[in-house]
Amino acid sequence: MSVMKDTDLRVLTVDGGARGHGLHCSIRKSPRVSRAFCTPGNGGIPDPDRRSVKDTDIDGIVRLAQDLQIDLVVVGPEAPLVAGIVNRLRAVGIAAFGPTADAAVLEGSKIFTKAFCRRHKIPTAAFRIIRNFEQAETAIKESGFLVVKADGLCAGKGVTVAKTEAGAIEAARALLVDNIHGPAGSSILIEECLTGRECSIMAFCDGHNAVLLPPARDFKRAEEGDRGPNTGGMGCYAPLPDVDDALLARIKDEIIMPTLRGMAEAGTPYHGLLYAGIMLTKQGPMLIEYNARFGDPETQTVLPLIESDIVEYMLGTLELSGLTKLPPLKLKPLVAVCTVLASNGYPGKYETGFPITGIEETSSMKFFHAGTVRSPALVTSGGRVLSCVGLGENFSIARERSQRGADFATFSNKFYRSDIAANA
Ligand code: AMP
Ligand code: GLY
Repeated sequence: MSVMKDTDLRVLTVDGGARGHGLHCSIRKSPRVSRAFCTPGNGGIPDPDRRSVKDTDIDGIVRLAQDLQIDLVVVGPEAPLVAGIVNRLRAVGIAAFGPTADAAVLEGSKIFTKAFCRRHKIPTAAFRIIRNFEQAETAIKESGFLVVKADGLCAGKGVTVAKTEAGAIEAARALLVDNIHGPAGSSILIEECLTGRECSIMAFCDGHNAVLLPPARDFKRAEEGDRGPNTGGMGCYAPLPDVDDALLARIKDEIIMPTLRGMAEAGTPYHGLLYAGIMLTKQGPMLIEYNARFGDPETQTVLPLIESDIVEYMLGTLELSGLTKLPPLKLKPLVAVCTVLASNGYPGKYETGFPITGIEETSSMKFFHAGTVRSPALVTSGGRVLSCVGLGENFSIARERSQRGADFATFSNKFYRSDIAANA
């Protein structure tokens, strides 16, 4: 395939968020890449690189990749992966970074993944699979499990960690009786509630092997002190002082590798980026969930720490055992803190269209755009507007740089959490 060419690659990133802006920036810098595009992108993507096809429009993306004579498509979000965008691109001879639909099921069906973990003895919370409300009520009362999850994709809104039995039963009713997430919630899981600190482990995978990126921790709640509603992520830091090389090796051995072996044995080898949400419990690391893609805001936090050319590793994932030909990932001796700037009201209702000023980057502080658009001046267009990533030799320096940028960038109704990485 044309991606085996040494240089001169034409790459299309499919993503509209800050994750996509981060990927596009790293891909543009690759000596292997002659031309990089991003669709639908945002105000951070230079106009000549940006196209307007939505990430859910698979026919449109296949056509765009053909029109632009793309060699490699890098897919950001889960919905097109689960819907089979990688299969569709391959069918027309275009290489794509990401799993095929039958491997993306690790994110597409939480029930599949829990049953898979049970078969392959991968540590995860105890669970039951539930198909109707009566069964849910009985099982919650019997087991005392208070975590309720829709099976399918719900744009990050399908999980309830209830505090009481009544709360868990209500969450099950909302999914199974009120159908708040439609067919994605017509089968559900109830799970034991795990306690500990969470971490996000992202790995390039070639069907047999995994190359782990630096571990990261994201902050999902809207307000300081981890209060308020769940969001798509309000900040992040990496690498994690509490996840040393020994713990990372354990996560790889006990969780990632058995997953790759199980998927390969089933005839659905996993290629692309595998994201494991892990709970560090007293009994050891346990899998909370898999995502079949890069995390957001983990990606824009971790990529600036990577010295190696990530395109080499993306290409390495395309063929079975392709990563074994590559040297270990080279990292910069730095840490990163990402502060997300959002519009007041997010994750609920918010206003947009406000001019943005004060985006002034330095060599150790970068902005990655999400909800921004040029019309022609830069204005807000979404709930999460910008990710401001500070780099430094330690967390106090990186945090100070991230917050200085977050403070300096200005738009009406801006808010951000000032406690990201405060306890790093
Ligand atoms: P999401 O990323 O929307 O799937 O949210 C899942 C979040 O719910 C995780 O990041 C955890 O914070 C929490 N969670 C999921 N499963 C469990 C569990 N079994 N025990 C404790 N917290 C959980
Ligand atoms: N940061 C969580 C996610 O990307 O799903």
